[in-house]
Amino acid sequence: MPARQDGQDGASVVAAHDVTRRYGADATLVDALRGVSLDVCAGELVAVMGPSGSGKSTLMHALAGLDKPTSGSVQIAGIEITGMDDAKLTQLRREHIGFVFQFFNLLPMLNAQENIVLPLTIAGEHPDGAWLEELLLRTGLAKRRSHRPAELSGGEQQRVAVARALVTHPTILFADEPTGIRVSRRLG
Ligand SMILES: Nc1ncnc2c1ncn2[C@@H]1O[C@H](COP(=O)(O)OP(=O)(O)O)[C@@H](O)[C@H]1O
Ligand SMILES: [Mg+2]
Repeated sequence: MPARQDGQDGASVVAAHDVTRRYGADATLVDALRGVSLDVCAGELVAVMGPSGSGKSTLMHALAGLDKPTSGSVQIAGIEITGMDDAKLTQLRREHIGFVFQFFNLLPMLNAQENIVLPLTIAGEHPDGAWLEELLLRTGLAKRRSHRPAELSGGEQQRVAVARALVTHPTILFADEPTGIRVSRRLG
């Protein structure tokens, strides 16, 4: 990885210690995570690999503060999120986390640009115009900004989801199988 210009190399942006996540009970009990510990530093690219059902999404949701682990601790940007109330967690996610969901979760009634700036709109903030234009250019969506998701290809929808995840300048970007949708659709 190239060295970052902001001097943050080496700082831990995500740290997990002994995280477990148990779903269901009795006959449907699943231990999706059994004691996962990891550290991700600024500037680092980490790939989580494993077969379908092995707990990748569960882990990413726990690391991004979207789901609460059954036990263990998670720190984001050096801040302990275990036990944090929902309002504080929302604030922290808004400040530090970008998440590209497996199925994108775009809002069908909003166009591409409105979907991209949605995290800011919800927070009552205005997008940084230059950054928005750069994102639209870098994702190749400048000419598709007024299209709704149903009028975009799968790959274009994916790029809207990527731009939306980056619009807040997150400390860390999570991407949950962002290239998997076409396969899922074909199979599903
Ligand atoms: N909400 C849920 N309720 C019950 N079981 C779940 C839930 N979400 C995931 N699981 C189970 O946890 C395991 C891990 O799922 P997941 O993290 O989605 O795997 P992956 O992303 O690696 O495909 C699977 O066996 C799945 O059935
Ligand atoms: Mg998954």
